[in-house]
Amino acid sequence: MNALQAVPLTDSVYWVGAIDWTIRDFHGYLTSRGTTYNAYLIMADKITLVDTVKQPFFSEMMGRIASVVDPSKIDVVVSNHAEMDHSGALPQTLAAVQPEKLYASKMGARGLARHFALPMEITPVADGETLSLGNLSLQFMETKLLHWPDSMFSYLPERELLFSQDAFGMHLASSQRFDDEVDDWVLDHEATKYYANILTPFSPLVTKLLAKVQETNLPLKMIAPDHGPIWRKDWQRIVARYAHWAQMVPTRKAVIVYDTMWGSTCMMAKAYAEGLMAGGACVHQLPLGASHRSDVGTQVLESGALLIGSPTINGNLFPTVADTLAYLRGLNRLNLIGTAFGSYGWSGEATRQVAQGMEEMHVEMVAEPFRVQWVPTAEDLQRCFDTGRQIAEEMTKRADECGCEVH
Ligand code: FEO
Repeated sequence: MNALQAVPLTDSVYWVGAIDWTIRDFHGYLTSRGTTYNAYLIMADKITLVDTVKQPFFSEMMGRIASVVDPSKIDVVVSNHAEMDHSGALPQTLAAVQPEKLYASKMGARGLARHFALPMEITPVADGETLSLGNLSLQFMETKLLHWPDSMFSYLPERELLFSQDAFGMHLASSQRFDDEVDDWVLDHEATKYYANILTPFSPLVTKLLAKVQETNLPLKMIAPDHGPIWRKDWQRIVARYAHWAQMVPTRKAVIVYDTMWGSTCMMAKAYAEGLMAGGACVHQLPLGASHRSDVGTQVLESGALLIGSPTINGNLFPTVADTLAYLRGLNRLNLIGTAFGSYGWSGEATRQVAQGMEEMHVEMVAEPFRVQWVPTAEDLQRCFDTGRQIAEEMTKRADECGCEVH
């Protein structure tokens, strides 16, 4: 018996993906709620599979396809994105299904050929090209660097359905397949975290893409991403969030990220926080002994100020701070102000190294980096407090938005 079931999106489109309840580390991103790898079956005259799944989930995808149609009847496979969570099962799928054609973007064709020894040619499709599936059709739209060079959307005009690969997705393992079946706060949290950690570096391109989509004025009923729920009730909501996030608007939320060895840097962090709050900012503190780098990325997305503190250890940054600095530099969240701080015993290099890292992230350093030897005195803590308040006042001048919603 095949217990696996496809889930219908329309009369002719089915979700045939896989649910990964186990994954917690997705190339450095803490996926606390697991994820899904969404693949879609279009029951057109030319039966079409859009994307596949991560390799270990091949059988799950095939079982779901088999609940609708004999997989060997699939005529066409489209790869919207070559990353392995969507193409890992492609070689086995092609071997099992033997479709007539495999389509990908030009860069996708190159990327897939470099990753896999595929048993068939890949036909590259161009931006704007339409592929006839008989009674239905697919229109392709390149979305280069959103978030890989190969990425593209496929649009099914007859059902007004956009297959958006990673875009508009989230990492959420769930038995619910649609946005209206999931609690709003879960959608908000996971969509925010996903944008923050996957798409922030490409924000200028997100703005351009959304303008292009708006120009083409595609009639749209549903957005079907490659992770998480399908947007059928309120796709406008996620598109509006993307438009907003891509602007990287500064808010009145300050994020304080630090680690501490014997408590001194923590004392400084708390004094900065009190000053920030006294100045009218809201504050989110992320002690790195208890916070994952991807949760830092999430909080920074909707913030206006970033303060980073590190003790000096062996003439260097504390390891967790070094990790988070490297990660944040990659995310490239712009329009932040901030400062660096830390404690030390005898050499004290870390504060300067943090400040240097923050400058490389284009954080505008509105207060002198401050380092304290051994344990901060009452005067030192007063200076941290005063600096916090001064940063809060600067934030108020620059930000209209609160940004204090808890995610
Ligand atoms: Fe879900 Fe970029 O892969």
